[in-house]
Amino acid sequence: MLNKKIKITCIVGARPNFIKIAPLLKAMSISEKINAKLLHTGQHYDYDMSQSFFEQLGIKKPDVHLNVGSGTQAYQVATIMMRFEEYCLKERPDGILVVGDVNSTMATSIVASKLGIKILHVEAGIRSWDRTMPEEINRLLTDSIADVYLTPSPDAVQNLVKEGHSKSSVFNVGNIMIDTLLNNQEQIDQSNIIKKLSVSSNEFALLTLHRPSNVDSAESFKAILEAINEIQKKLKVVFPIHPRALKKLKEFSLEDFIKSMPNLILTKPLSYFDFGRLVKDAKFVLTDSGGIQEETTVYGIPCITLRENTERPVTVTEGTNELAGNDTEKILSLFAKIMNEKWKSGKIPELWDGHTADRIVRVIENEMQWD
Ligand code: UD1
Repeated sequence: MLNKKIKITCIVGARPNFIKIAPLLKAMSISEKINAKLLHTGQHYDYDMSQSFFEQLGIKKPDVHLNVGSGTQAYQVATIMMRFEEYCLKERPDGILVVGDVNSTMATSIVASKLGIKILHVEAGIRSWDRTMPEEINRLLTDSIADVYLTPSPDAVQNLVKEGHSKSSVFNVGNIMIDTLLNNQEQIDQSNIIKKLSVSSNEFALLTLHRPSNVDSAESFKAILEAINEIQKKLKVVFPIHPRALKKLKEFSLEDFIKSMPNLILTKPLSYFDFGRLVKDAKFVLTDSGGIQEETTVYGIPCITLRENTERPVTVTEGTNELAGNDTEKILSLFAKIMNEKWKSGKIPELWDGHTADRIVRVIENEMQWD
């Protein structure tokens, strides 16, 4: 491919994708060899779930928007596939770059694979070994057809090699989310959310919840809220609520229970800077998100993960994370450990250093065969 730039279409659809793509687009924009386009599937569409991240992280306006919106997983995946196929047939990118494990990642990968377009998967190889998680299915399918695997940690490399992928297609580049975290420290520190919510540093807990296994069942949602009810008796709990969790809260008539907790502060989904500030200043975090387990590890903030497993094991073996599932007693016993200052201190995993985007660009420029 002499003199011609490599045409890469970067795919985003859901909130964590925006955070991961920001440093990559920046690094690609200064590469003389890459011509990067941005495609938004429209999986997330609310201002707070999408546009706010574009504004704060300086992500360019998408070159293409598929406007897919919500629906059942099959509707969402099928609609993305049909609209993305049309785009690919017209634009013929040399490669697509997909991040993480959301429906948009998997749907666009399947289309690209069948059209002979190369797939670069960022955050490849991580596994929860839990096939009830939609994300695990998305990870397995995407990795089964990707061409180049860009992994955040050595466990991901091992998983891919065990699954039969050639070592020469796997590049351990580090954690792309941490690029964004480190690049935006100044703005995070300037956020006035602590004041706005009338909380004090190190004197509140931060809660996020949105996994189907936690919020789509009244029983598990309630079990978690029982623990939160006890926790908020001792310190304030800030809960920026995901649209999915809010919908389920209403459906299961749990609103009154929430309202009965005087120290639970419910907010809409927050911007990247505000949320980052809350993570950094919290006494501890309770979450079922993947990325937040990583961010707390980098900040050295205790994290209780409301899941039975994690696809990010280094956050437990090296970082500040512990798993609690949705077991009320387990959550409360970990909470007691934090309050008694008995939590482990943890360290930052290798290559979570803010330079992952540059390493990925080097792989695209120098390690891949483009014809
Ligand atoms: C998706 C990802 C998940 C990721 C999460 C981050 C998949 C399978 N899941 O889950 O891995 O951690 O994003 O947020 O891709 N909704 C709105 N406004 C929006 C977007 C969604 O109201 O802008 C509501 C809709 O009712 C929708 C529901 O949230 O049906 C779920 O959205 P969806 O994109 O299907 O999955 P998430 O739970 O957000």
